[in-house]
Amino acid sequence: MTESNSSSGVFVAGTGSYVPEKVLTNDELATLVDTSDEWIVTRTGIKERRIARDDEFTSHMASAAARKALEQSGTSAEEIDLIIVATITPDTPTPATACHVQQQLGATKAVAFDISAACSGFLYAMKIAKRMIAAGAFENALIIGAEKLSAVTNWSDRTTCVLFGDGAGAAVLKKSGEGDGDIVATEMGSDGTLTHLLNIPGGGTACPINSENVDKNLQTLSMLGKEVFKHAVTRMKQASEAVIERAGWSPEDIACVIPHQANLRIIDAIADRLAVPNEKVFVNLHKYGNTSAAAVAIALDEAHREGKFKRGDKIVLVVFGAGLTWAAAAIEW
Ligand code: UT7
Repeated sequence: MTESNSSSGVFVAGTGSYVPEKVLTNDELATLVDTSDEWIVTRTGIKERRIARDDEFTSHMASAAARKALEQSGTSAEEIDLIIVATITPDTPTPATACHVQQQLGATKAVAFDISAACSGFLYAMKIAKRMIAAGAFENALIIGAEKLSAVTNWSDRTTCVLFGDGAGAAVLKKSGEGDGDIVATEMGSDGTLTHLLNIPGGGTACPINSENVDKNLQTLSMLGKEVFKHAVTRMKQASEAVIERAGWSPEDIACVIPHQANLRIIDAIADRLAVPNEKVFVNLHKYGNTSAAAVAIALDEAHREGKFKRGDKIVLVVFGAGLTWAAAAIEW
């Protein structure tokens, strides 16, 4: 489903991100499973990832990222109307991680809830928040992608454990005023016939937590990587093209493309198919691996703070994940 609304009047007022201190390198992983730095770098582009402390929860990382986004946007926590946390690794099944974040920030008047759309969650949250602000329900929103994937990783499965990491990214959205930017077009989609390609089979009602299921590692991420790869390239290309077309832009207008950070080969394939030069495509997965809903949010913040784009520039965000789900956004900064 694509939406274009050039007068949506909602812009990104500030961004922030947080990653845990502990670095886990490819060489360290090679002491845990039968892998190598050479295999991981060649097949994925990942060199290292961050791992949260045992006492560092998804909400703590989300709040740390949120504080930076609030500061950059010149907004106090008390002013925030809406908090949406996109995550597949909530602190607790209920209440929502967004409510823990609300308490940690002191965002006393906010409405807070989580969404589950895996790696696509941050852009799903962006669209939900944008529509709620544009409809007049709220003046502003704090959207966050935050994950502690290390808690749902099977550390004895080399096909997945080399891929994932922990972190959080956040953005404050506000109603646009004179001279502000605009979230010009958004696209989101899902294909529930492909749930089996990437999932955490255990921990829900279909396969409750019990010692037998935990012994089989069913509470951890499982993926058919090759299949996911093909769908990722196709769907991210389609979603990007849809928002670029609806925005009325051409590839040469775009200052920066910020894709989901799962695999450098996927990112290169998207750049190639969109005819956007590699230097305009932001990549940070060598430092963090795949952090699911947090990935594009952290990348947006880093690209912003590194000056990869400035006020008035046209940027495209595009993501893909379990579900399968995908989404894109064309933003005039
Ligand atoms: O965030 C949601 C979206 N996720 C994605 O987009 C991920 C998409 N998929 C991928 O990024 C890639 O499919 C992977 C990086 C997961 C795997 O790369 P691949 O090129 O598709 O490798 P493969 O699964 O076909 O495995 C090739 C070989 C296999 O050995 P054989 O059967 O050829 O002997 C694997 O057993 O590599 C082996 N292998 C490894 N070897 C060393 C798999 N994992 C590893 C490893 N180290 N960590």
